Amino acid sequence: MRPLRSDGWFAGDDEVALLHRAALRVGGARPGRPVIGLADTTSSLNPCNLGSRALVAEASQAVVEAGGTPVAFPTMSLGEDLMKPSAMLYRNLVAMELEENVRAHPLDGVLFFANCDKSVAAALMAAASIDIPVLLVLGGARGCPDFLGKPLGSGTDIWRALERRRTGALDDAQWAQLESCMASAGTGSCNTMGTASTMGLVAEALGLLLPGSVGIGAGGPEVVERAQASGRRIVEMVAGDVRPRTVLTQAGWDNAVKVVAAVGGSTNAFLHLAAVAGRADLRSDLDRVGALVADVPLLVDVEPAGTHLIEDFGAAGGLGAVVASLGDRLDLGVRAACGTPWRELAAAPSSPVVRSCDDPVAPAPAFAVVRGSLAPDGAVIKLCAASPELWRHTGKAIVFTSYDDMRRRLDDPALEVDAADVLVVSGCGPVGVPGMPEWGMAPIPQRLAELGVTDMLRVTDGRMSGTSFGAVVLHCAPEAAVGGPLALVRDGDLIALDALAGTLDLLVDETELAERRRSWQPEPSAHTRGWPALYRRHVLQAPDGCDLDFLTGRPPSSTTFVEPVIGRS
Ligand code: FES
Repeated sequence: MRPLRSDGWFAGDDEVALLHRAALRVGGARPGRPVIGLADTTSSLNPCNLGSRALVAEASQAVVEAGGTPVAFPTMSLGEDLMKPSAMLYRNLVAMELEENVRAHPLDGVLFFANCDKSVAAALMAAASIDIPVLLVLGGARGCPDFLGKPLGSGTDIWRALERRRTGALDDAQWAQLESCMASAGTGSCNTMGTASTMGLVAEALGLLLPGSVGIGAGGPEVVERAQASGRRIVEMVAGDVRPRTVLTQAGWDNAVKVVAAVGGSTNAFLHLAAVAGRADLRSDLDRVGALVADVPLLVDVEPAGTHLIEDFGAAGGLGAVVASLGDRLDLGVRAACGTPWRELAAAPSSPVVRSCDDPVAPAPAFAVVRGSLAPDGAVIKLCAASPELWRHTGKAIVFTSYDDMRRRLDDPALEVDAADVLVVSGCGPVGVPGMPEWGMAPIPQRLAELGVTDMLRVTDGRMSGTSFGAVVLHCAPEAAVGGPLALVRDGDLIALDALAGTLDLLVDETELAERRRSWQPEPSAHTRGWPALYRRHVLQAPDGCDLDFLTGRPPSSTTFVEPVIGRS
């Protein structure tokens, strides 16, 4: 049998190996078997991941039955609901925590239990940086309680309710009912095609999550079965030496981008995919992304781009049905996490939820990459969540230089704003506000919302929630805080978007822009200590996935992990 990495700690008869074996046995683990780490993100501060503990127990039992020895350990839990300014600030920290936990400990394989958006993204980034077999395990989607006679879609329906509240269409009793309804949805990830579902599908497409894991309910038997199957599979992967280094391929990455487009997924996925690619030495430039998504119609009818919820997607065949619909637009030779090529896992589209390419939900691509004088390094717009009449639009800028500025003035009756104007929210990029919060989708100004305006063109260097909708050009790079063109826009400037042509321009004379550039000064930051200060110093811009500059590239295996001889020192 091939030597195990953990042999570096436990093999031999000297006093160090003896101490190591004794320490492991205290926790109930058995040296001599493949040691499988189970990284548990259970936290009462993160309702999306609260089900992980039970799944860790199920997977542990399966690991034992498959001949491994499980060791569970806690990791920081990233939840969108309570973390400020954004769970995204801590995505890189958790990716690093997972990588370092693996580096430091006698693990032969590892299961990352994740569910909420950034916990899934962090686990994928960690997987790209470590060199032992890895699988993710998800906890399933939360329930769909009825609100005003309709199942409540996480995020999407809540944003709609917030808009109705702003215009007075939702009374106090309904407002209180909304809170109760959200609380009764229980644990689990958002039940829409938000970032968590999208990143789950990305993980499936990349071969780091067992197929069929997205679109099943939290706490149900299918989630338990997948946790058990993951426990068995990771032991197999250790025996077969199946590492992320061979699993993560350019073909799989390209497939994942197309899957995001077909399902109308979260724009956040493009940041996370770029970060994974940066660590795995894959090509991920925005022009490549633009070309990949341009070839794919919207096939999946799930909120926010459609009408159904994520369990309907699972019932319709999940990713297998999408793969069947996309057919040769994907590289079907890429293997899923179970080891089988996707060609053999494609399930026929069987419901109106997952459509064929001949009968798509929308023939146009779900996303477009745009560039121009307002975003020289690129930006992204989710076309399938935007009003088509705004895909090509020129309007006067109304500039908010920060989220606070936007909140303070947006609903001011004195604000002169028209539905044809372009709302600019700058200062929300990764350096401007560490973590690049989901502040980019400025609400429709109340006065216009009351007149029935439901969409306006918005441009930002920030992000928006995967469950959001609207004509919002996101992730403009370089961002305003580092002197990107968004910092130079003034009220009344004309901004021109042609999403299908891939352009976003600030129609201001170059001489005038040069003058503004000369007088631009960076804003002093309030983030002067701790993780946010370190993050600001090292974070990359959106097209590079907002990873930290010292975490990109594949680490050489020999320096990443403790070799047996070092383990004895
Ligand atoms: Fe956690 Fe949506 S808030 S998955």
